[in-house]
Amino acid sequence: MKRYFVTGSYGQIGMDLIPAMLERYGKENVVATGRKKINPTFKELDVIYHRLDVRDHYGLRNLLVEYDIDIILHNASVLSATGEKNPQLAHEINFEGFYNVLEATRELNLEQLFAPSSIAAFGPTTPLVNTPNDTIMQPTTIYGISKVYVELMGEYYNKKYGLNFRSLRYPGVLAPSEPGGGTTDFAIWAVFEAIKNKKYECFLSKDVRLPFMMMSDCLKSTFDLIEAPDDKLKHRSFNVTGMSFTPEELANAIKEYIPEFEMTYKPDFRDAIARSWPQSLDDSAAREEWDWNPEFPFDKMVIEMLDGVSEKLGISYK
Ligand SMILES: NC(=O)c1ccc[n+]([C@@H]2O[C@H](COP(=O)([O-])OP(=O)(O)OC[C@H]3O[C@@H](n4cnc5c(N)ncnc54)[C@H](O)[C@@H]3O)[C@@H](O)[C@H]2O)c1
Repeated sequence: MKRYFVTGSYGQIGMDLIPAMLERYGKENVVATGRKKINPTFKELDVIYHRLDVRDHYGLRNLLVEYDIDIILHNASVLSATGEKNPQLAHEINFEGFYNVLEATRELNLEQLFAPSSIAAFGPTTPLVNTPNDTIMQPTTIYGISKVYVELMGEYYNKKYGLNFRSLRYPGVLAPSEPGGGTTDFAIWAVFEAIKNKKYECFLSKDVRLPFMMMSDCLKSTFDLIEAPDDKLKHRSFNVTGMSFTPEELANAIKEYIPEFEMTYKPDFRDAIARSWPQSLDDSAAREEWDWNPEFPFDKMVIEMLDGVSEKLGISYK
């Protein structure tokens, strides 16, 4: 059995990824790391957990050697909205942190490095409808620039050193848990607020269309890609998507279950970020090279999110 190492495990994706990995690969083969103290969920699951700041390259190497790691899943990152508030911090964590992980993978001759990219790697000069896998990438946020760096450096190390780098351009990831400071977070907060207060003031305009996927599809795409045979891959970075919707379409779908729900709109700086991103993605390269096939359409997502948030808050919406 291979041994897996996850950075940024305490984040929105990590909190679902780690339990899924324990089940799939066995508790003894998964090492979770994060900047904070171990959380109660990980404690309960008896996860192997270490505090690690990805800027600390000695600490990183020591853990990789100590646990004889084969595959890294590098999730530690500053997200889009937080990055625009502090571009210097985003540079340190997203560029230097990734470089540490990439170099450690090369030096220690590890089997694979998986590092998520994002739809933020695209920008206003990209064709924004049904965005192809291979197209213009001129992002205008520090977060997006860092994701282009991740993709290009991963590709470069693959060609130069044979490093087995793989990446997914996740769209907004939807789960009934608190998101980490991204531009697609509105979709999650809208459901929380619909259940708590029956109203939500959205920080995007009502007509901005963005791509999304449910967390279960995000985890499925991650496992499918890291387990795909190398000789099948023509690309190193892939578009993946599950659905696309606007804030208004989401509000209308929530209203079918909570008729009193009202979404109002007060666009802030995140509206311009969202407008520079794809509205929908062409994920045919992922479908062709490693059989990607999402399972969650829009309607099923709305019910799943309402049920999940309702359970989390202990407030019924029915
Ligand atoms: N959630 C989404 O919608 C989404 C969409 C596209 C791409 N992604 C990518 O997926 C990955 C995981 O995203 P997420 O949603 O879980 O993000 P998140 O912000 O919820 O979690 C990121 C984690 O990284 C940690 N972190 C920050 N700086 C660190 C450092 N110096 N050292 C170690 N850890 C540090 C944070 O504490 C946090 O726990 C990121 O690469 C992100 O860019 C996420």
